[in-house]
Amino acid sequence: MILGIETSCDETAAALVTPGGEIRASVVSSQADLHARFGGVVPEVASRRHLELVMPVLRQALAEADATLDDVETVAVTQGPGLVGALLVGLSAAKALAWARRLPLVPVDHLHGHVASLWLGDDPVEPPFLCLLASGGHTLLLDVRAHDRYDVLGTSIDDAAGEAFDKGARLLGLGYPGGAELDRLAQEGDPDAYRFPVARVGELDFSFSGVKTALLYAVRDLGDEAEARRADLAASYQRALVRALVGRAQEAAERTGHDTIAVVGGVAANSELRASLPGARFAPLRLCTDNAAMIASAGRYGRPLAYPRYLDLDAYASRS
Ligand code: KG4
Ligand code: ZN
Repeated sequence: MILGIETSCDETAAALVTPGGEIRASVVSSQADLHARFGGVVPEVASRRHLELVMPVLRQALAEADATLDDVETVAVTQGPGLVGALLVGLSAAKALAWARRLPLVPVDHLHGHVASLWLGDDPVEPPFLCLLASGGHTLLLDVRAHDRYDVLGTSIDDAAGEAFDKGARLLGLGYPGGAELDRLAQEGDPDAYRFPVARVGELDFSFSGVKTALLYAVRDLGDEAEARRADLAASYQRALVRALVGRAQEAAERTGHDTIAVVGGVAANSELRASLPGARFAPLRLCTDNAAMIASAGRYGRPLAYPRYLDLDAYASRS
């Protein structure tokens, strides 16, 4: 089996996946509560928490899979992008385990991991396809040509889609991270109550900072009334974000000629986005937000480094 380890942001995760893509265990310990009172992830706090959690989470994954380290043939770990201190905890744990047992190690790009969430289970989405990757840190349109090859067609020039959901949620007084809560609140509101247009930039790029400011002004102008209109504001704001994502994804699919649109990343859990792209393939709900099963899945297609050639691997903070 492949052992996957993910610690790029505020989820400590370990998973065991078979070479055929069957998930034997996937354990995710979210630190969201720990960071909620700061309104965002505090990198140093995240690193320390990963350090406390990485071994217990790993042990739990082995227990759930009814396995021992003897069953692990390859270790796959997120190398970047993400918070470097957080990444280094997972990377060091992965190196130590692989080194102690003379195993190969596959460094995995977190974004490739999100795409690889489509290749688990009985009904994988086979390349080529157009992929919308929308998470808290990234918004990308990818031309996925093979399991280990994709081209970036477009990206956000400012906030990521998940970040726009979280900032909107914050303006509406919801908790952190607020994407899922905003989704729930929006279901009680009228999406046509307000017009929050999303700027069109570049050919296949996104920009979400303007729509966030539009929501800020709307809340400010409503004053005391804003509280009573929260559901309408949430629904209208979500409608604007989803329209931008869907429009761009469809344009990119047309341009590349791909019949299949796939959607991955935390925002792929959004109910309106799922309803707005009925023909698209979405990552299973529990694999949308960060997890280690997708990292192990990507590890199946990455380049394994033989023992002990991975000891000097370093984490990286950003894409490119
Ligand atoms: O992929 P992910 O777990 O982390 C990153 O790699 O960034 O994505 C987390 C993001 C957060 O911004 C969160 O608010 C958003 O995904 N999210 C949602 C929903 N569930 C999670 N956004 C909109 N609707 C949801 N239902
Ligand atoms: Zn992610």
